[in-house]
Amino acid sequence: MKKRAKFSSKLGIVLASAGSAVGLGNVWRFPTEVGEGGGAAFILVYAFCVLLLGLPLMVAEFIIGRHTHKNTADAYRQLAPRSGWIVQGYLGVFTSWFILCYYSVVAGWTMKYLVEAATGGLGSISDSSAYFSAFSGATWEPLVYMVIVMLLCHFVIIHGVQAGIERSSKLMMPLLLMIIAILVVFSFSMPGSSEGLTFLLKPDFSKLTSAVVLSAMGQAFFSLSIAMGCLCTYASYFTDDVRLPKTAFSVAIIDSIVAIMSGLIMFPAVFSVEAVTPDAGPGLVFITLPNVFHIAFGSVPVLGWFFSVMFYLLLLLAALTSMVSIHEPPTVFLIEHFKLSRPVATAIVTIACIVVGSLCCLSFGPLADCRPLFGLTFFDFFDFVSAKLFLPIGGILISLFVGWRLDRDIIVEQLTNGGTVRLPAFIISVFLFLLRWMIPLAVGGIFIKELGIL
Ligand code: PFF
Repeated sequence: MKKRAKFSSKLGIVLASAGSAVGLGNVWRFPTEVGEGGGAAFILVYAFCVLLLGLPLMVAEFIIGRHTHKNTADAYRQLAPRSGWIVQGYLGVFTSWFILCYYSVVAGWTMKYLVEAATGGLGSISDSSAYFSAFSGATWEPLVYMVIVMLLCHFVIIHGVQAGIERSSKLMMPLLLMIIAILVVFSFSMPGSSEGLTFLLKPDFSKLTSAVVLSAMGQAFFSLSIAMGCLCTYASYFTDDVRLPKTAFSVAIIDSIVAIMSGLIMFPAVFSVEAVTPDAGPGLVFITLPNVFHIAFGSVPVLGWFFSVMFYLLLLLAALTSMVSIHEPPTVFLIEHFKLSRPVATAIVTIACIVVGSLCCLSFGPLADCRPLFGLTFFDFFDFVSAKLFLPIGGILISLFVGWRLDRDIIVEQLTNGGTVRLPAFIISVFLFLLRWMIPLAVGGIFIKELGIL
């Protein structure tokens, strides 16, 4: 039998996992949510969500993946044969594919903006809002960019675990971290930037409503790539000497640092330009910021050019490393379950994503009024189903599975690397308590409230 692939080094493992976590969610969603959710007050709630909900779930997924060394669906089949838990395995495979379909659309937008920034086109836009609507609402251009980023992702995945995922992460992640550090320094050097910093970091506890707590939790899950099959899949390539809790902690730290640094880039830059008020979500990145670059560096255009190229390159790198991690779960499922070769499996996933992703892409233009499912556009439907339904359901199921169903010996063996690493018994008890009670209750409660069931 052919030997299953593994990552070749601990650094590769941390960088690939952090590459999955660090994505569009960090660079555009986090700063907006901080701004709207009470600044440092939101960051505090977010930190609790990462520590008490995100980290244990990440470790739980790592345990399942590394113990079985299988794709997500077959991992659950092995651990709980002939039981309903297998549904959770398939959910992981499906969710990642669902996310890839609409994530690639936004990744395509970042590539378009990078190209425009590099060729100087962004500097000559007079109305960035109209520009964004015209571009995202067009038929061919956003489609072409989406296909290009999908093909880049395809190119990485087709080369497999070490030569594809690991090598590209080792290249892209250090570059991404370097760019973000340069941009923070740059942003702070802009006049009036301290106001933006105050906007971002001043704690306003009056804004902490249950909806804000909910979005902090959703953001923590999405940002850490939890419950989407990809952490479990990556962990199935981990070597036996890797310490799972330590790896999860490193990933969470890198992810949170990048999120906070993104806020430190955006708001000081935005506030240094008086005429601009920050938009939310995509508007911040694709409408407000081009304006900022334009106005702030009007007198020194080369700096505006540099800042915008670096920024959209950062966004594209972040998107690509995450896309790679959501392409892999369905691909390795097809390889192992249906005995397909990697090139064939990769091609099937890529083509399926391009076909469905096209519907999401055209949701902003020709298909804007086509709302066959729950009155949502295709893009919103895929976003809603994966991030608002599958993600919390997956989170609850994973915590219940590892907390109640999985053999405790397997958990201890994985956490201690077969007894070679000392781990105080109370840490295992706290871990199990969080998985058995705290996470299902917290996530379940918030989920029910959000869907308006109660
Ligand atoms: N964590 C990524 C982000 O913050 O953008 C998005 C993501 C990647 C979600 C991988 C889900 C996933 F499986």
